[in-house]
Amino acid sequence: MKKIAIIIGSTRQNRQGERVGQWAHAVLKSRTDCAVDLIDLRDWPLPFYAEPASPSALHGQYSHPIATQWAATIAQYHGFIIVTPEYNHGYSAVLKNALDYLYQEWNHKPVACIGYSSGNSGAIRAIEQLRQVFIELQMIPLQPEMNLCSVKQLFDEAGNTVDPKLADRLQRVVDSLIEFIIPQ
Ligand SMILES: Cc1cc2nc3c(=O)[nH]c(=O)nc-3n(C[C@H](O)[C@H](O)[C@H](O)COP(=O)(O)O)c2cc1C
Repeated sequence: MKKIAIIIGSTRQNRQGERVGQWAHAVLKSRTDCAVDLIDLRDWPLPFYAEPASPSALHGQYSHPIATQWAATIAQYHGFIIVTPEYNHGYSAVLKNALDYLYQEWNHKPVACIGYSSGNSGAIRAIEQLRQVFIELQMIPLQPEMNLCSVKQLFDEAGNTVDPKLADRLQRVVDSLIEFIIPQ
């Protein structure tokens, strides 16, 4: 069974990312062609990267046990959906740190983004920047993406989206992601 992780890329109090990530997880749980897990970076308080070598040279030998666990966790997945905010026209520092910690564990795996914002950007600039990082990590960045604008208005109290078309779009993004998974 192919395994896909949704990664929530913001950790601040009152974040909207949690709502978006939980919605995506709820939509994708019913798929029969892949297992979808939700990874919340709040559960992974990695210190800022300060290892004596780059991750590609460490072979999983980190100074911090949580980093070793992070590597083992990400290694299990065949593809990723990154739920990203836009902070000052970029993506969040916590997300960059989580990406920087690993190398081989990301290599050759497809990745798609769901960007969201309180205004009209839909995190389009953050996603463009993430694509550059994905290339350096030897990932496969997908062309389809989601850009959720005015994110607070898109979900009701129960976390359901008020726009039923969004779930269909998300399913199509995941269809594409699965096509790019290279048989291991
Ligand atoms: C530090 C910071 C910087 C922001 N910069 C941008 C920005 O450049 N573009 C944008 O569209 N929204 C920006 N916003 C508004 C975010 O779109 C909005 O707060 C969103 O909910 C952030 O995601 P989060 O709630 O998961 O942290 C910024 C928000 C914060 C906290």
